[in-house]
Amino acid sequence: MKKNNYQFMLAAVLVLSFTACNQPQKNNVDTADSTAKTSAYQTEVDGKKVELFTLKNKSGATVTITNYGGRIVSLLVPDKNNKLTDVVLGYDSLSSYRKKGEPYFGALIGRYGNRIGKGKFKLDGKEYSLQINDGVNTLHGGFDGFFGKVWDAKQMGDDKIELTYTSADGEAGYPGKLDVKVTYTFNDDNALKIDYEAKTDKTTVVNLTNHAYFNLNGEGNNTILDHELFIDANAYTPVDSTLIPTGKITPVKGTAFDFTTAKTIGKNIEDKDEQLKFGKGYDHNFALNPHDENKAIAKVKSTSTGIILEVYTSEPGLQFYSGNFLTGETKDGKGGKSYPHRSAICLETQHFPDAPNHANFASTTLKPGTVYKSTTTYKFLK
Ligand code: GLA
Repeated sequence: MKKNNYQFMLAAVLVLSFTACNQPQKNNVDTADSTAKTSAYQTEVDGKKVELFTLKNKSGATVTITNYGGRIVSLLVPDKNNKLTDVVLGYDSLSSYRKKGEPYFGALIGRYGNRIGKGKFKLDGKEYSLQINDGVNTLHGGFDGFFGKVWDAKQMGDDKIELTYTSADGEAGYPGKLDVKVTYTFNDDNALKIDYEAKTDKTTVVNLTNHAYFNLNGEGNNTILDHELFIDANAYTPVDSTLIPTGKITPVKGTAFDFTTAKTIGKNIEDKDEQLKFGKGYDHNFALNPHDENKAIAKVKSTSTGIILEVYTSEPGLQFYSGNFLTGETKDGKGGKSYPHRSAICLETQHFPDAPNHANFASTTLKPGTVYKSTTTYKFLK
C-alpha cells in the first residue's frame, strides 16, 4: 500500500515537472501575487458601468485602471531581480474605493487638485463657493470631485486607455461645463504617461492631477522613509496651519525641504520645523526649476528592490506628500494589508495650490475657446 502511494507520488511529480518545463515562457519576469481581480470591479455606479482595464507591455509589466475615478489600481514593474512588484497602494474591491474618507488612492483629481482656501475664489469679479471638505478649505475638487466619478472608457490596444468625463456647469460649485479627456499610455520602457485635456464653455479654473500612492519596496512593505528622493526645485511654497500657501515662494537651501541633492525621505522629516509640523511631515508644493517634459523633475529610489521612479511633467509644481495621514487602522488594503503611517509617497504634478487666490502664482484660469493641456510621465527603472 505504502509502496503504491510512493510510486504514484513519484509519477505525479515527474508529470508535473515535465509539464512545468514545457510551458511556453510568457514573460522574462516573474509574476507577482498581487494582481487586481477584474470581477471585483464589474458593477454599476450611478447607473454607469464600472470595469477594470489592463495595460500590458512586452516585458509583462502591467497597469490596471478602473474607470471609477480613473484610478490606477495596480502597477507591476520589475525589481532588480526581475520580480514583478506592485508599487502602488490600493484595494481589492470597488467598495473600499467608495468608502467615506478614502484617501484618493490612484485617483484622477479635478476640477482643482490640492486646496483652495476657504473654498472661495473670484473670476471676472464674481465670487464662487466650493464644497468645504478639508477643515475650512476645499481639497481635490470637493466631495463631488472627479475621484468619485464614473468616466467613459475606451481601451485602445494593450498600451492605451482613454477616459472622458463631462462635468456639468456648477458641479461642486465650479462655473462652466467642462469636458475632460485623460489618456493613460504604458510603453515598453515601463513608462506610464498621463495626458490631460479639458475644454470649458464658461471661464473657470482647472488643475488636474493623479493621486497615486507609491511604495517602491512594494505596496504594504514598510514605510517610504528609506526611499531616496531628488526634486529639481530650488524653492517651495510654505503653508499656513490649514495647509494653504502663504503666497511666498521660499528657497529650500539650508532647510529640510532641500532635495536638490538626493537624500532619504526620513533624513529630515522629524526636524524641528514649523512647516513640517503643519504638514505632519512633507505635504508641500515644490516650485520646480525651469524644465521641459524630457527632463526628470523628481527621482525616487528604493535600495531594497532597486526600483527607481522618474517623474516628468509639463506642470510648474509638484506636491510631495509623505503619506502622513495614513494610519494603518483598516485592513482593507490589497490582500488584507493595512497601510501604516508614511507607507507611501505621492508626487502630484500640478499648478500651485490655491492659485486662484494668489496673483503671483501661474494662472489656472481656463477660458472658452482655449484648451487645457498637461502631461505627466511616471517611468520605472531598475
Ligand atoms: C493631498 C494633500 C494631503 C492629503 C492627501 C490625501 O496630497 O495635500 O494633505 O489630504 O491629499 O489624504
